[in-house]
Amino acid sequence: MMNDTTRRLHIRQAEPRDADALFEICLRTADSGTDATALYSDPKLPGYIWAAPYGALEPNFAFVLDNGERAVGYVLAVPDTAAFEARLERDWWPAVRKTVATLMPKAALDAGALGRIAKPEAHLPWLAEHYPAHLHINVLPEAQSGGWGRRLIETELDALRRAGVRGVHLGVSPTNERAKGFYAHLGFEDISRDGRVIYAKRLA
Ligand SMILES: CC(C)(COP(=O)(O)OP(=O)(O)OC[C@H]1O[C@@H](n2cnc3c(N)ncnc32)[C@H](O)[C@@H]1OP(=O)(O)O)[C@@H](O)C(=O)NCCC(=O)NCCS
Repeated sequence: MMNDTTRRLHIRQAEPRDADALFEICLRTADSGTDATALYSDPKLPGYIWAAPYGALEPNFAFVLDNGERAVGYVLAVPDTAAFEARLERDWWPAVRKTVATLMPKAALDAGALGRIAKPEAHLPWLAEHYPAHLHINVLPEAQSGGWGRRLIETELDALRRAGVRGVHLGVSPTNERAKGFYAHLGFEDISRDGRVIYAKRLA
């Protein structure tokens, strides 16, 4: 439902000045869609993995939801997951690994994130043929349920289609029932396999 907050919003291409917002939005939605602030001792930990590198390395596929003052949501994608992984290894992980080198895991999700930074999850080869792209969408609670999630996804799918991408996939936390319902409602197919919850859509 549109209310005074959601009516004022608009979607635009992400810019370098959005970097802090990408970290914050990621943190505040990183616990299966809800606030994970208490679960990480460094608030940037989830953003290093799931948000910041997308804005930095694939800006053409990074869009934010702007409330006139700051970004309150984003959709981020890469057209070629395997190529992105190689690029992260070269241009992203080395600096992040140095930054977190002295961080001792204390909060509940620290160790998991540090493990992923040390040894990033490898792409699933069986997805490459039909669904080479992947995306992340995260909207802060104040901007949810106003139709902006749908508009963000449509903006991203248009950008991927224009780039000639065949299909897109995304991983979902098994406990994020709301997100699963949202993707199914938007025509994504549940192609979960090997214990991984994955939704996908063909674009061509
Ligand atoms: C999931 C999320 C992106 C959805 O965005 P949103 O702005 O709240 O959703 P919208 O208002 O755009 O909903 C779009 C449509 O999906 C429907 N929908 C939303 N959630 C649904 C659900 N759980 N089941 C069925 N339909 C759903 C809406 O009714 C709406 O339908 P309509 O366009 O036909 O009227 C957003 O809630 C969010 O960011 N949550 C926290 C972070 C997160 O979980 N991200 C996903 C990680 S995988």
